[in-house]
Amino acid sequence: MQAVDILRAEHDGTLHVLTFLEQAAAAAAAGQPIPQNIFTDIQEFITIFVDRCHHGKEENIVFSRLAEHTAAPVLQELVSEHTQNHAYAVAFVSAVQAYVPGDSATGAALATAAHRYAELLRRHIERETSQLFPLMQQALSEDDSQLTALFDRFEEEQIGHGTHERLHQMIEAFPGRLAPWAPTPPPKP
Ligand SMILES: [Fe+2]
Ligand SMILES: [Fe+2]
Repeated sequence: MQAVDILRAEHDGTLHVLTFLEQAAAAAAAGQPIPQNIFTDIQEFITIFVDRCHHGKEENIVFSRLAEHTAAPVLQELVSEHTQNHAYAVAFVSAVQAYVPGDSATGAALATAAHRYAELLRRHIERETSQLFPLMQQALSEDDSQLTALFDRFEEEQIGHGTHERLHQMIEAFPGRLAPWAPTPPPKP
């Protein structure tokens, strides 16, 4: 089902960003001068792509349509997790604003906020994979082409043309930008 494949690909991209985020935040907590723009870029991905675009597609298109077929409590629970996740994103944004590169105290506060955000979102993604996707496949298979068209329209309206591609390029560039601060392997005896 193509709508499920689109959401799964968005989850995969998000999981990559969460890995970079935790690596960069751990280095900041250790007092490494990780440039602030790495975190503001991740913040942009989180607020524009995850919060507005991905969660928006799920709530406004998928959950609302599934609610016509099932009263499964998981739908309401997933919405509550989006709300909690949004609150953690707001706390992360504040920690990014307060962060001073090279200062381990503000780096540690940022790492705590990043970890809390990442932990909830990983659990949420696992839950959607195991519970939401099978529900979509059962109840919405016949609506697949309609759903994917609605996804495209929603994305265009919410984040505008070209933003998805720009954010993709940003994800691809993260490993190179983090490389100078990657943990070095221990010296060989
Ligand atoms: Fe979700
Ligand atoms: Fe999702």
